[in-house]
Amino acid sequence: MRQAGRYMPEYQAIRRQHKSILEMIARPEVAAEITLQPVDTLGVDAAILFADILLPLPPMGLKLEFVPGRGPVIHNPVRSPDDVAALRPVDVRADLGHVYEAIRLVRTELDGRDVPLIGFAGAPFTLAAYIIEGGPSRNFVETKKLMYGQPAAWRALMQKLTPVLIDYLLAQADAGAQALQLFDSWVGALNPQDYRRFVQPYSRQILQTLMARADVPVIHFGVGATTLLGEMKAAGGHVIGLDWRIPLDEGWALLGDDVAVQGNLDPTALFAPLPELENQVRDVLTRAAGRPGHIFNLGHGILQHTPVENVRAVVAMVHEFNRK
Ligand code: CP3
Repeated sequence: MRQAGRYMPEYQAIRRQHKSILEMIARPEVAAEITLQPVDTLGVDAAILFADILLPLPPMGLKLEFVPGRGPVIHNPVRSPDDVAALRPVDVRADLGHVYEAIRLVRTELDGRDVPLIGFAGAPFTLAAYIIEGGPSRNFVETKKLMYGQPAAWRALMQKLTPVLIDYLLAQADAGAQALQLFDSWVGALNPQDYRRFVQPYSRQILQTLMARADVPVIHFGVGATTLLGEMKAAGGHVIGLDWRIPLDEGWALLGDDVAVQGNLDPTALFAPLPELENQVRDVLTRAAGRPGHIFNLGHGILQHTPVENVRAVVAMVHEFNRK
């Protein structure tokens, strides 16, 4: 979850040659090269595909732009039942073919190396929130206005997203992705009651279908979701991703022993002096206590300006700890 190799000079060098990240993602050989950069320069144990959770939106008729300094913007956000009805059906196999091609290229490059490739998509709540807000939001007022005030339109939107996400993720697995991660980055805006009513049925349909039909592990990750962990586990996933707000052992205790856990170093710890960083890495690993089914990761995306040498140091620390 390096949300932009933006902190990596190797990424910046390629980034400078292109107008936008959408253009980079659309070129499979470029996407494949960027995907492999952290494997080669940091020594991480897995690769995550260079793509973005918002890719399914343009084929639905949404005008997506990554505005420097502001992040993703949707110029025609959905605000009414008519807007929902006007969203076009997506044929993800045809519309997002470049993504699967990038997966095939990465798999060819990784052939013979013990480095799995993770494919991913955004969860329906997070995508719906982007679609309705038109960009990042603090209080999700427009999203909740639609959810509470036009529940039929909300359901229609979630029902449009759900099959698209299922097909998109299954197609990634078919192309060679060896794990699938569903990112619910904004789900922390919800209380458990609203999650259960407005979101869980759709996330569940996606996760359960993947667990039944894709022969790869499925990772379910939410941000700010400490109070939702039980509901998220019930929705599905072989692995639940924990953000950095809860100690790993406490999160795992809430989830129970029958799921694996991914996480959860605070990405900001990467800006700390090495001894402090090392304490925090050791804390995560000690809380995991060598139990099978812990995937060490950051508790959310890596931040811009993160010192690369500290990322490399964390990879080395985790490998060293595991050797003992
Ligand atoms: O990190 C990687 O390179 C792996 C591929 C990846 C990207 N986005 C590429 C990207 C992944 C896994 C994502 C997921 C993603 N995208 C999420 C879920 C994870 C999370 O952070 O919660 C979300 C919410 C998005 C939407 C998105 N895309 C945001 C918020 C931004 C940052 C905008 C900004 O300028 O701050 C993006 C842009 C983006 N996605 C970049 C990359 C490499 C940055 C492009 C650049 O500036 O060069």
